Amino acid sequence: MSTHADSTQVSISNPKHIAVIMDGNGRWAMRKGNQRSDGHKAGSEAVRNLVSGALDLKIPYITIYAFSTENWSRPKAEVDVLFRLLAHFIEKELTELKERGVRVRFIGRRDRISKFMVSQMEKMERETNNNTKLSLTLAVDYGGRDEIHRAIDRMMEAQQTSNTPWSATDLHQFLDAPELPDPDLVIRTSGEMRLSNFLIYQAAYAELWFTEEYWPDFTQETLARAIADYQKRHRRFGKIK
Ligand code: IPE
Ligand code: IPE
Ligand code: MG
Repeated sequence: MSTHADSTQVSISNPKHIAVIMDGNGRWAMRKGNQRSDGHKAGSEAVRNLVSGALDLKIPYITIYAFSTENWSRPKAEVDVLFRLLAHFIEKELTELKERGVRVRFIGRRDRISKFMVSQMEKMERETNNNTKLSLTLAVDYGGRDEIHRAIDRMMEAQQTSNTPWSATDLHQFLDAPELPDPDLVIRTSGEMRLSNFLIYQAAYAELWFTEEYWPDFTQETLARAIADYQKRHRRFGKIK
């Protein structure tokens, strides 16, 4: 008798936290004979589809990989385009995100990006701080290993400045956003099947979902498909049922 057919084992609930690796902007543009920067522009617009989909489907947490610690190795002109688009995104979307009840926060390093950029990011965090419909986290100059290294540094610093005996199992509290639940589902576009240093600690038990489509083509329907597949998965967390 197949236990897999037993519907009681199928998780029909929505994922609470979806993490998204938006990949394939460059290839999307090149395929059309355009510059990679056109793909990044279209990619930043596709973020709107993700946010609308999450609001419609009442997903409470979304985290998006916008710029990795490794992406600094790209040509400076491309890095500049990516940060210009991020600044533009903040400027253009802030009012609407505020109105739609979205709380925005950022994870990643803030010591290697411009002061102006950091001030814009902080403004967005401040002005959306009381929103509760959707928590949207943007990972900028983010790398999972870098986050763990910084968390260890912070824990050692806390050890020195307080009498609390911290232990390695407290590490989670020193990550960039300890209040976020672990992602239930990681989505990656463009056919690549890897995490590329995204949430490597938190995604320990996430379900992974890949699509061949490039990020700029991501729609609310793509999100719905990923969630429908997630709902067919059997999450066992090491147990036997
Ligand atoms: C994702 O698209 C955007 C970032 C990594 C910032 P890519 O720029 O990686 O596009 P491809 O993978 O080269 O097509
Ligand atoms: C991952 O995409 C980083 C972001 C989406 C921000 P990359 O395109 O940088 O990843 P690799 O290099 O293909 O692994
Ligand atoms: Mg890529």
